[in-house]
Amino acid sequence: MKLLTIIGARPQIIKAAALSRAIRNGFSDKIQEKILHTGQHYDENMSAVFFAEMNIPKPDFNLNIGSGRHGEQTAKMIAGIEQALINERFDAVVLYGDTNSTLAGAVAASKLHIPIVHIEAGLRSFNMAMPEEINRIVCDQLSTLLFAPTQTAVQNLTNEGFMQSKTTFPNGLRRKVFHSGDIMYDNSLYFAEIAEQKTDILERLQLENQDFVLCTIHRDNNTDNPERLSAIIEALLEIAQNTKIVLPLHPRTKKLLPENLLQNIYSKLLNNSNIQIIPPASFFEIIVLEKHSKLIMTDSGGLQKEAYFFRKPCIILRPETEWVEIVQQNAGKIADANKDMIIDSYHKLLKNSSDFMPVFGDGQAAEFMLNKILETFN
Ligand code: UD1
Repeated sequence: MKLLTIIGARPQIIKAAALSRAIRNGFSDKIQEKILHTGQHYDENMSAVFFAEMNIPKPDFNLNIGSGRHGEQTAKMIAGIEQALINERFDAVVLYGDTNSTLAGAVAASKLHIPIVHIEAGLRSFNMAMPEEINRIVCDQLSTLLFAPTQTAVQNLTNEGFMQSKTTFPNGLRRKVFHSGDIMYDNSLYFAEIAEQKTDILERLQLENQDFVLCTIHRDNNTDNPERLSAIIEALLEIAQNTKIVLPLHPRTKKLLPENLLQNIYSKLLNNSNIQIIPPASFFEIIVLEKHSKLIMTDSGGLQKEAYFFRKPCIILRPETEWVEIVQQNAGKIADANKDMIIDSYHKLLKNSSDFMPVFGDGQAAEFMLNKILETFN
């Protein structure tokens, strides 16, 4: 059978690596995969570096859409994906997560009656102000095969009636939901050792045998909101009085820090010798930074999980999380963009202990998914 994998943003490239690897290693006689890159992320260090490091096949289609307003960006993607799906017959498309590339793939494929496999289905923040919440809800509704990474995600789909759904898709297909485990865990297990050998980031940043905090900020409601961005940076400045902090900067954040911070806070950030601002990290670099950090602060969904995989406490710089298990296990705290809550969480989490129970599966999610894909569409 023939699959089209659609990717566009950094985390999707990472997730797709695990599925492509599993196809190459055990399914290449049964499944042919082609890859379409929308071009949502286009900077070398947001896209190409991941293909190289993780040995992902070069995309067969590249739409080079780039940045833009949500409607404009998504519309261009829909048109490009539609054309690719008309030119060549695919048995199903594989979509990841909740980005505008996911939404575009879901709209284009469903209108052409091509079944959708949604990897990372069922996640909900219950916050419709998040563009990702809109994207994932639409994609779940349009998908035939839904792979939920956690029990909570399965429960969300159950609550929304997915298990009793009367929906019939073209060719008489009915919706199926599976608890698959998290495909990102496959990658973290696979690359954890390799990454250590392939990057000298700790040496370069002079962090060998040093305690440090890893922090990332990129969500629009943090970067685009001066009050929230200031509160987070002020908390960082306070925490940096006693520890080193590494801050890989997403291009969006890099652009907006000088625009949305007061000049004196921005210059304190730039001049703080305990805060190392670096370009977006490669996958190997981020893994090594995660493994060696003492705590992770982030508004990224992916980093929250990777913190948990590597048994690091995590401060969640958002008002809620889809990965509620992390908070339930006492391995993370939701601090939103509240300076006092961030500082308080920092001290509490360093004292707390968590058992880091296995809530993200067994690291074999990709094989499980490929077997279900074959059973469903072959
Ligand atoms: C997107 C996803 C988000 C995901 C994140 C991972 C949506 C709605 N959001 O957010 O779910 O967590 O990717 O990084 O799809 N830019 C560059 N170079 C790049 C890419 C982006 O400079 O290679 C800048 C542009 O100024 C752009 C901004 O970053 O306007 C935002 O990029 P965009 O793709 O809209 O969303 P992300 O914030 O990356």
